[in-house]
Amino acid sequence: MARVEPFLMVPPAQFATERNPSLWLSTSQSPSYPSLELDIQADVVVVGSGITGLSTARLLSGQGLRVVVLDARRVCSGVTAFTTAKLTALHSTIYSDLIRIWGEEVAAVYADANQAAIGKVKELAAADGIECDLREASAYTYAQSEEHIPEIEAELNAALKAGLQASLTADSELPYEIAGAIRLDRQAQFHPRRYCLGLAESITKNEGLIFERSPALALDAANTTVTTDRARVKANAVVIATQIPFVNRGGHFTRMTPSRSYALALRAPSQAMEGMYISVDQPTRSLRSTGDGYLIVGGEGHPVGTDPDTTRRYRALEQWSDERFPGSTVEFKWSAQDYRSADRLPFIGRLTSGTERVFVATGFAKWGMTNGTVAAMIISDLIHGTSNPWAGTFDSTRFALGQGGPGTVAGTFEAAKHFVVDRLKSLGRRPATELKPGEGDVVLLDGKTVAAFRAEDGQIHAISATCTHLACQISFNKAERSWDCPCHGSRFDIEGRVLQGPAIKNLASKEPGPATDLAADD
Ligand SMILES: Cc1cc2nc3c(=O)[nH]c(=O)nc-3n(C[C@H](O)[C@H](O)[C@H](O)COP(=O)(O)OP(=O)(O)OC[C@H]3O[C@@H](n4cnc5c(N)ncnc54)[C@H](O)[C@@H]3O)c2cc1C
Ligand code: FES
Repeated sequence: MARVEPFLMVPPAQFATERNPSLWLSTSQSPSYPSLELDIQADVVVVGSGITGLSTARLLSGQGLRVVVLDARRVCSGVTAFTTAKLTALHSTIYSDLIRIWGEEVAAVYADANQAAIGKVKELAAADGIECDLREASAYTYAQSEEHIPEIEAELNAALKAGLQASLTADSELPYEIAGAIRLDRQAQFHPRRYCLGLAESITKNEGLIFERSPALALDAANTTVTTDRARVKANAVVIATQIPFVNRGGHFTRMTPSRSYALALRAPSQAMEGMYISVDQPTRSLRSTGDGYLIVGGEGHPVGTDPDTTRRYRALEQWSDERFPGSTVEFKWSAQDYRSADRLPFIGRLTSGTERVFVATGFAKWGMTNGTVAAMIISDLIHGTSNPWAGTFDSTRFALGQGGPGTVAGTFEAAKHFVVDRLKSLGRRPATELKPGEGDVVLLDGKTVAAFRAEDGQIHAISATCTHLACQISFNKAERSWDCPCHGSRFDIEGRVLQGPAIKNLASKEPGPATDLAADD
């Protein structure tokens, strides 16, 4: 019998939007696409319109397939619109990790695939005439202090073994001394949202259909049918490109950890940089310039839902930038998160070994500009039944290969720990009346544990503190005014509407009132 993920009787009207819009969102304009109102059929339904979903849909529609793209929010408004948008195969110290965990052959496949992805982005941008500030640039992984030089040397060695034409250098354009860096030439950088909006336009020219504000709420894997809040798409294949799958089947959420990072776009008096930089020193700092003169500074990564004051992350970046780029002013600031697998490889391929026509792509570890494009190339080949040289390495159904097994256990243990510890903590909660304006916390309201936020006008917005994904307790993200789940990274706005999955169901409102009104899910 066909297995259907549980259908929600009370679906979210639409996913909510982020509080701090990024440079990319603020400097691109998308046409409005309709919502899916009627049942339709297609060759392929792609769920998610970030770089992964749109690249996949673009390739398939260009190969003559009828493609439907669904997004819960506006087109390309997920993490692709909140990235730093370096297109490179030099991913910090990934090759040292890959060789240690998997060996040289896998590291070489990873390098080859990511290098090819840069070529694919260039090819699509040129073929479709997409103006997205796509420019060639060298990528650098650098050490500021001598103590990190052994890491740089080890990574250079690993990158060379993986087949990259990397080199060692002590030169950089950075306005501070560095001890050394790996340099990889002929990489690129771009405006990710303009690129993705260009892909979207090509998809519609190829007679593909794009639907916004159409959250996928259920998957019938056997019948390759996706159900949104209002209608169904029946297709021959389904691609889940929602950053983390919105269905639990496949268990990918247990094999990855979500990490949140912060970015600033500055106007700096210093000259724009040609290269793209990332440090191995902690805290990590990531830098690049844009064609229109912004300097992007990123960093301050931490596990989602674990920092009681995320505003200090922006302050730390601002202070660091002030010291190194005096006279600079912050024009945009934003934060976002991505998922990293325990064994350092993304999951790209079938949702499970038994689902032949449902595909997934996730776990890009903050390198999804290229890895999302790799996913598009692999999945489009799998859908056509064409052999792909990288598919086996990224196989999304792997469990106990390499370090995947221990990671699985660790991930599950971490989630269980949050579950138990949070419930013990809830015994000693403070009352909601103690919340100051602008503050959010898990508190006691009318004798119940709730997640409450006090707005500047004094009003309290109270919602269930229990994540609708798998019941971990959410915590307040002060900088984004969102409720973030430490277990698998779901996020909700202060009204409880889903900002980010894997959760697909909103948190119930717990507005103050008679105790009997506060339903018993705590
Ligand atoms: C701060 C930061 C900096 C980064 N910098 C870089 C970088 O320099 N280079 C690099 O290569 N990578 C970088 N990354 C990583 C990269 O941005 C991501 O890996 C990549 O954007 C993921 O793309 P995606 O298409 O898989 O996901 P997304 O862009 O998030 O797209 C997923 C889409 O699915 C939709 N969706 C979710 N659930 C549903 C549902 N149930 N129904 C319908 N639609 C749904 C969302 O609305 C969203 O539009 C960075 C990441 C972060 C956090
Ligand atoms: S995201 Fe899984 S329990 Fe919250």
